[in-house]
Amino acid sequence: MEDFKEILNWYILTGVDEICGEKSCDWLNVAKDTQTENKAEKRSETLNQTATTTRPATTLLAQENAAACNNAKEICRQADNLEKLRKLVENFEGCSLRFSANSTVFGDGNPEAEVMIIGEAPGADEDREGRPFVGRSGKLLSKMLETIGLKREDCYITNVLSWRPPGNRTPTDAEVAVCLPFLRRQIELVAPKVILLLGGSAANAVLENNDSISSLRGHFLNYVTQDGKEIPALASFHPAYLLRTSTQKAKAWSDFMKLQRKLKEL
Ligand code: URA
Repeated sequence: MEDFKEILNWYILTGVDEICGEKSCDWLNVAKDTQTENKAEKRSETLNQTATTTRPATTLLAQENAAACNNAKEICRQADNLEKLRKLVENFEGCSLRFSANSTVFGDGNPEAEVMIIGEAPGADEDREGRPFVGRSGKLLSKMLETIGLKREDCYITNVLSWRPPGNRTPTDAEVAVCLPFLRRQIELVAPKVILLLGGSAANAVLENNDSISSLRGHFLNYVTQDGKEIPALASFHPAYLLRTSTQKAKAWSDFMKLQRKLKEL
């Protein structure tokens, strides 16, 4: 019993907090796994196909990422509505996060929403339920929306990433890059009047900058779609940060008031 406890404690210490499957798998040698061999073959086929059209990247990994990004963009061109896009994202194998996640967490809410809310990535609760912002952060978000007269169901809520990074680690640039086309397509299909970006990672990924959330929050910036349409985007603190740092709630409150005023103006 003591040994068992120690093993569990060791798992917790190393960041293991979810069971991803009934059978164990050597994730470091995943390409040797028979199931994934075919995937690896498929991936290198895609790689060979795209190698002729893209400038060669420096390493095999970088080439794989470039191929996966091109593949994601191609998939987005096929999706003329959100349901199609959801199915295509669910079947997409170009992001390794999907293999450690329990579910694909696609956008949720009103597909014709005026407000689109974008977070960073699903957490453990979202991964379990398959919906964005359903855990503690989501509950706080719903309360904050209510203060400006919005219900969660009125908005369209999504994340930069469709899969949970193991142990909620910060996503890599490559993971963000491969998931971004899906987010951009969701923005085009929903065509919201305003975008609310929660947290620095979401703001940096969507606005393509490296500015701190403290400097970005509270100002409307422009998000430009592929066809040149400008959508006002407001960044604010992530609810998970507000749960840890309640002294910043007043600033977040003022951001939400700005959002409310903007919606009245539009
Ligand atoms: N944090 C996020 O950024 N997104 C979620 O869906 C949940 C928590």
